[in-house]
Amino acid sequence: IPVENIRNFSIIAHVDHGKSTLADRLLEMTGAIMKNSGRSQVLDRLQVERERGITVKAQTASLNYTLNNHNYLLNLIDTPGHVDFSTEVSRSLAACQGVILLVDANQGVQAQTVANFYMAFGKELVIIPVLNKIDLKNADPEKVSGQLRTLFDISENDILKVSAKLGTGVEDVLKAVVDRLPPPPVNRETPFRALLFDSWYDRYQGAVVVVYVTDGSVKIGDEIVAMHSGKNYEIKSTGLLRPHEEPTNKLVAGQVGYLTCNMRSTKEAHIGDTLHHRNQSVTMLPDFKPANPMVFAGVYPMDQSQHVVLRSAIEKLVLNDSAVTVATDSSPALGQGWRLGFLGLLHMEVFNQRLEQEYDTQAVITAPSVTYKARIFGEKNVKRYGGSEITITNPAHFPDPCIVTEFLEPMVMGTIITPDTYLGPILSLCMERRGTQQSSTNIDNHHVIMHILLPLNEIVVDFHDHLKSISSGYASFDYEEYGFVPSRLVKLNILLNGIAVEELSMVVHASKASGVGRRVCLKLKEIIPRQMIEIAIQAAVGGKIVARETLKAYRKDVTAKLYGGDVTRRMKLLNRQAEGKKSMKLVANIRLPRETFIDVLKR
Ligand code: GTP
Repeated sequence: IPVENIRNFSIIAHVDHGKSTLADRLLEMTGAIMKNSGRSQVLDRLQVERERGITVKAQTASLNYTLNNHNYLLNLIDTPGHVDFSTEVSRSLAACQGVILLVDANQGVQAQTVANFYMAFGKELVIIPVLNKIDLKNADPEKVSGQLRTLFDISENDILKVSAKLGTGVEDVLKAVVDRLPPPPVNRETPFRALLFDSWYDRYQGAVVVVYVTDGSVKIGDEIVAMHSGKNYEIKSTGLLRPHEEPTNKLVAGQVGYLTCNMRSTKEAHIGDTLHHRNQSVTMLPDFKPANPMVFAGVYPMDQSQHVVLRSAIEKLVLNDSAVTVATDSSPALGQGWRLGFLGLLHMEVFNQRLEQEYDTQAVITAPSVTYKARIFGEKNVKRYGGSEITITNPAHFPDPCIVTEFLEPMVMGTIITPDTYLGPILSLCMERRGTQQSSTNIDNHHVIMHILLPLNEIVVDFHDHLKSISSGYASFDYEEYGFVPSRLVKLNILLNGIAVEELSMVVHASKASGVGRRVCLKLKEIIPRQMIEIAIQAAVGGKIVARETLKAYRKDVTAKLYGGDVTRRMKLLNRQAEGKKSMKLVANIRLPRETFIDVLKR
């Protein structure tokens, strides 16, 4: 297919605005999948994605489309919709010349719509604004068009209106992609060059990498070099994604497709890498900013006999998710485990869920923590820590405040869009989370967009849930990194019967230590099952106890309420109780349900 007839595009949208539904319609209309095949949302491959209705991993599909007797190849590059995965959005856009900016005509512009728009705008991509869900009774395309004009200077005439669910207006979207987007700026005469922008792990083929070919062509048997590592490979297969792998003899400039070349793991497939033929010198394509892990948590096997199984499960999952960082770790109570770094809390939850679903393992996950920094003084201390500024990814390694001149914590710039009726409660929530408002602008008669500087640690757990609940689901939130600032940080220790449980310790702002301490003690009292002994639950900063609760002793006899002698029933109940105990972790001689370590943080 000639380059002039190729279009590379992506659909970007706030969560639930209908991206997957629109992608399904586009696939159906171009014959890539059968209509009503009952396999809705084809691009959402993973079970977690289906269950949670969110797209985690970007996927790609090449579509054949005929318009006015011309055949076109449209490469649809799917992108995840959640803030945690915004680097995946960015990398997918590097292969595109344009985007469909999809906005729910009922909900209107949301925080991620704004973030997505600026990401595409900054890359000088053609933006096709599309209002979705016009079939809904409450859809207000007029109002939402006004928001697009106010915020992004988008003209009413350029806006398409569709119902992805019913298929109304979707044909016009395909036409607009052909008419408004330029063909990819590629060259088939120059030596082969391709941008590697995604990969996944296949048990038989190793890493399958998704590439956008910008120059020349590549075929099976070719010797190539991955510029980042300088390693050589031989091409084993090439093909298009329709959306399932369809082998081809070669890939030519302008195409988006996959190739395999015996890369052992996705770690070798560096996202943003440039591939080229051996013995050809080419300039490197622009690389991506690497995704920084923002949230760290310890992961431990329920008991050490499962260590090997859990290790192999984590290794396999990491093969498919190169954004997760892994380091080995050990803890007195939980034994040998790992400290994993995630892009955000959702990323962490999704990883955990996959661990359980795909590998049938149960793991203990400790309270998540963000990364802090500390400036330390004294030659001896600097030597001991290997530098005057240290990074703390685990509260257990929090340095003695006596040797620290300054602690620093990471901040984010948050964007909130909300109906103005909820402004009061939202501002209180932000203040309670140590946020400071930077700006506030009306986007129509009833909606406001605000920018708020917030400490990452205050939003990492349940900020989003809270925001949703105080605004009846109407406010939306997105954030970007804003660097580190000096902060008064302390380590809050949690003691059970006088023994500090390192795995429950956390770093908090000094002003919040006693409040958080009280909340955590209460929460622990609620979630730790009563046991044979009385348990004192305490929170302390340094040597000072800031909160205390007592959990009374109690023996849970599940059969007490059974009179008579139905033995089988009694056995069943006792077995169930034993099962329940198995999923407990013995810490400081106290049985803790494994959810304790993360539930303790939720408010
Ligand atoms: P993420 O993958 O999480 O970003 O979500 P998404 O943007 O892909 O949204 P999805 O396609 O899953 O749609 C979200 C919900 O909106 C689903 O329940 C859809 O059935 C519904 N939906 C999508 N398009 C339309 C539409 O045109 N009309 C109506 N009434 N509902 C729609």
